[in-house]
Amino acid sequence: MPAPAFMPTNLEHLGLAVRDLEAATALYTALLGEGPYKREHVATEAVDTVFFRVGSSKIELLAATSSDSAIYKYLDKKPEGIHHVAFEVADIRAEMARLRAAGFTLLSDEPKPGADNKWVCFIHPKSANGVLVELCQDRADNA
Ligand code: CO
Repeated sequence: MPAPAFMPTNLEHLGLAVRDLEAATALYTALLGEGPYKREHVATEAVDTVFFRVGSSKIELLAATSSDSAIYKYLDKKPEGIHHVAFEVADIRAEMARLRAAGFTLLSDEPKPGADNKWVCFIHPKSANGVLVELCQDRADNA
């Protein structure tokens, strides 16, 4: 049975909040045995990101570039660690509508451009068992 178009199709990445991006990049390069495939500054989120491939999934390191950043505020209260879990979806708008109807609290009304050429939307941890969930869809697709 083919998967419906409105379900996550892959655990796309885990987002890790880090204080020292260079140190964390060196650590994950040693851990995974291969360096990152991408570094990207996301001005809208005030973060620097570094991406590693792990099979069909990825690790995203996130470091704040200003005190306005959600990552800065997160690390003000919590230790470094897993910040969010990202699911790949084929149709982010359909998925947002499905989850909104199911009672989840979405952090934006519209998909936003995210790192690594994605459309993204986040689900509030309070409505997802304490986990910040990201939905993402390739930006090459329509959204
Ligand atoms: Co992410």
